[in-house]
Amino acid sequence: MSEVDLTVHLTPDDIVRGLRSDARTGLTATPKSLPPKWFYDARGSELFERITRLPEYYPTRAEREILAARSAEIASVTDATTLVELGSGSSEKTRLLLNALRHHGSLREIVTLDVSESALRDAAAVLGAAYDPVSVHGVVGDFTQHLALLPGSPGRLVAFLGGTIGNLVPAERAKFLSGVRDVLDEGEWLLLGTDLVKDPSVLVQAYDDAAGVTAEFNRNVLHVLNRELSADFDPAAFDHVALWDHEEEWIEMRLRATRPMEVHVPVVGLTVSFVEGEEMRTEVSAKFRDERVTAELADAGFDLKHWWTDGESRFGVSLSQAVPR
Ligand code: AVJ
Repeated sequence: MSEVDLTVHLTPDDIVRGLRSDARTGLTATPKSLPPKWFYDARGSELFERITRLPEYYPTRAEREILAARSAEIASVTDATTLVELGSGSSEKTRLLLNALRHHGSLREIVTLDVSESALRDAAAVLGAAYDPVSVHGVVGDFTQHLALLPGSPGRLVAFLGGTIGNLVPAERAKFLSGVRDVLDEGEWLLLGTDLVKDPSVLVQAYDDAAGVTAEFNRNVLHVLNRELSADFDPAAFDHVALWDHEEEWIEMRLRATRPMEVHVPVVGLTVSFVEGEEMRTEVSAKFRDERVTAELADAGFDLKHWWTDGESRFGVSLSQAVPR
């Protein structure tokens, strides 16, 4: 029987405190902004799942294509005993890796990190049953805060998939990648999914789909603030905006006020004014060139050993090894 355990580094209280602090900071800044991590309550996670199936949103399919083609190679190159999955969310693509590691015969242990305790409990139990007798450690935590606390024995492969690293700006990425390097021993591995720079119209459509699912996902952060902070945002009064910033090479999502508004956020003691047309940033999703991926990994102490893309070169998956710094 698999041993399954759960460690909580982030309680529901910590999460609300984080939301309050982010709302206070972001809603009093010029221009206003909110971090993308607050999209993902139950409804937001469901909307994101729908996004991954939209015709315009290619990253999930492109990454799955790469992993389906390369999992066996990843298993034999790394010979990993422990798979550490950061920001588990959709464990479906991780399954491709786990199946390959099991087939290769090296898999002993799974560590899976997520901010949602309920999602993690379910995921850990499912993994324990599916990969018996491999032991499963669920860790409730944030990949920007709790890397140093991750369990796991040497022979590790850390997987950070989906292109989620694109939600971090360059300084945050450098800190995150160094943090991953710090928990690894020389010779251990990082598998990283990165969406790639391409025709801006393809990118913008992926973040502004015809069915309006991404727009609803974007506005969901306002529903989260209304529920968790007793705010009185009118989500219908905000338009969804997705634009390509070609200097930064990232997609930016914003919410644009369609009329002047005063919004109350009593839990943090704020009254926030919006002028008509005012835009609030809710997400950056950086897109990469292979040279940049190699360079950022090298700066953090990783040597990129393999680089794979899908058939249309839309998405990249890199496999890198921790080297001395
Ligand atoms: C989950 C962060 C990878 O940036 O593409 C999808 C989130 N935002 N549509 C991304 C998202 C709008 C997604 N990540």
